[in-house]
Amino acid sequence: MSVTAEISVEDFNPLKPEFFANPYPYYKLLRQHRALYVEALDSWWVGRLEDVRTMSNDVVNFSHAKFQEFGLGEFDFAPNVDQLVATDPPVHTRLRKLANQGFTPKRLKLLDGDIQERIAKLIDGAKSLPGRRFDFMHDFADLLPVSVVADLIGADPQRCPDYRYWTRSIMSASNRKTMTPEQHAEIRKSVADARAYFGSLIAHYKQNPAENIICDFITAQDNDDRLSDEEILALVILLMIGGDETTGHLMGNLLTQLTMNPDQYEILRADPSRIGDAIDESLRHWAPVQTAFMWTTNTVQIGDVSIPPDSTVVAVWGSANHDPDHYANPEKFDITRKKQGHMSFGSGPHFCVGNMLARQEATKAFRMFLEEMPHLRVEAPEDIEWFPSFWMRGPKSLPVVY
Ligand code: HEM
Repeated sequence: MSVTAEISVEDFNPLKPEFFANPYPYYKLLRQHRALYVEALDSWWVGRLEDVRTMSNDVVNFSHAKFQEFGLGEFDFAPNVDQLVATDPPVHTRLRKLANQGFTPKRLKLLDGDIQERIAKLIDGAKSLPGRRFDFMHDFADLLPVSVVADLIGADPQRCPDYRYWTRSIMSASNRKTMTPEQHAEIRKSVADARAYFGSLIAHYKQNPAENIICDFITAQDNDDRLSDEEILALVILLMIGGDETTGHLMGNLLTQLTMNPDQYEILRADPSRIGDAIDESLRHWAPVQTAFMWTTNTVQIGDVSIPPDSTVVAVWGSANHDPDHYANPEKFDITRKKQGHMSFGSGPHFCVGNMLARQEATKAFRMFLEEMPHLRVEAPEDIEWFPSFWMRGPKSLPVVY
């Protein structure tokens, strides 16, 4: 039996709450083995940075095609079209080329004012709560990203609670095998409601062009090629899902890391222009998205491990980011670290399309917090209730004082 500290290969079960709370000792073991078969998830996990990077870029041997079938099954929100996250080149290349016509610096720049305004309103709301304390997730980080994506796509901001409900309900389909028929009916309804609302929004903007990303998708063109209405619908729902909890977790993680490392918080307070470095270090140290799923098309070899074709393989960004062959003292949160990049937005053709938007939101939010609440801190960082997931890392709630 192979052992790292007190953890053995038999203990490597990503469904356990101990794993959600702190996966990093498990990742140390994973990197020793390079690849491990995890029975609980019938999948092969890969943890060294070079291996994770290689598999993400090797689209011949590692496919994304089963992504929605595996994650959502019968609850896929757009089963009749190719979807960005669930295709390989050249189909993915086509979709990404058209989708990128929405994620332009101009589109993001136009969002600047809206983001600033939303942050200011949320901070005012937090200040109005008694006792100079609030819940950073519940009162801020869970609310900002969904409203920013609503602004991005031109959706009614009043209906953000609906968007959140639908996308979270759809995402819960990853646990569909252990759910009741009533829960299945709930997800089915969320899929239908999300499709109906965003479908009518697309129809509206086809008749009434405006400044938003849906209109960019409607007019996007590559020679004679354009996105169909159903492809736009799939993209819009994907943005709602991809741009919500991920960015919220980044902000919750960063505040926790700063609270737990007062010397680093002090460096940032003294020089707020370091916020970009702090965000990147937060992403490296605690990746909000810890894993990506892929499927082997052939037998592949990772170190001594031979993985058969049609196996589920998990690229563990969170482990790659702590690879000591790449980062000195990887467990330390250090915003002055020499820039070496990280894997938290993925790698290869599926590299996160929303990475600039996530940075934009977090940068503006923390700039304003540093000005308005410079002593904002998590009340009990050691007792955080973590989001119950092996693939998402972030606090479920985060009581703070300022
Ligand atoms: C801190 C915040 C975020 C993190 C950590 C994150 C992480 C990731 C990662 C790791 C991937 C690659 C997945 C893979 O290889 O299978 C990805 C892809 C993606 N992300 Fe993000 N993301 C964030 C924010 C956003 C935002 C704000 C949006 C949109 C509004 C977004 C939309 C997407 C989409 C659509 C893809 C799929 C791209 C493709 O398949 O070509 N993400 N993200």
